[in-house]
Amino acid sequence: MSELLRTAGRPIVLIGLMGSGKSTVGRELSRRTGLSLLDMDAVIEEQVGLSIPDIFREKGEAHFRLLETALLRYLEQGIASGHGAHIISTGGGVVLRPENREILRRMGLTVWLNVDLANLLLRTARAQNRPLLQVADREATLRALLVERSPLYTQASHLRINSSEMKVPEVVNTILRYAQKHFKRFARRG
Ligand code: S3P
Repeated sequence: MSELLRTAGRPIVLIGLMGSGKSTVGRELSRRTGLSLLDMDAVIEEQVGLSIPDIFREKGEAHFRLLETALLRYLEQGIASGHGAHIISTGGGVVLRPENREILRRMGLTVWLNVDLANLLLRTARAQNRPLLQVADREATLRALLVERSPLYTQASHLRINSSEMKVPEVVNTILRYAQKHFKRFARRG
């Protein structure tokens, strides 16, 4: 399987709301396939030299969104030059810009981890590092984000996994099974 991923030279990209398990699933996918894990938020923090909350505070969300697009463009170019086989975990808002959604559809296999509100609430309960959730009513905020973004995740992804009640290995198995078919298609197209 990892051989197929490597020869396809294309990434598996995880999208979904904050708390949907992108980082955890990304780590397990990386362990299972031997492919490296690239966390877009971590790369942007490193590039700017500031944490995500500080980037939002000092430079603004719009600036952060531009950095996400620039990084996606760069990662897409990497595919053309043969450096594209990664597992990529994204920030929850990566689907907001239309250009990003197009790149996500072109890049490789984009998987939407779709988690219900109750589980999102549980999983983000202790998060201090998410500027959008530093609000009085986290439930209302997450509910609004689910409504606003679900159609965007649909547009940007090839596969949706309703993973609220699933264990991580089960999610990973589902992704790898689908990837096998998906990347064969890519391989045929050359
Ligand atoms: C954001 C999600 C965060 C991070 C930033 C904005 C969002 O990433 O990119 O705080 O708009 O949903 P995670 O989804 O990894 O928490």
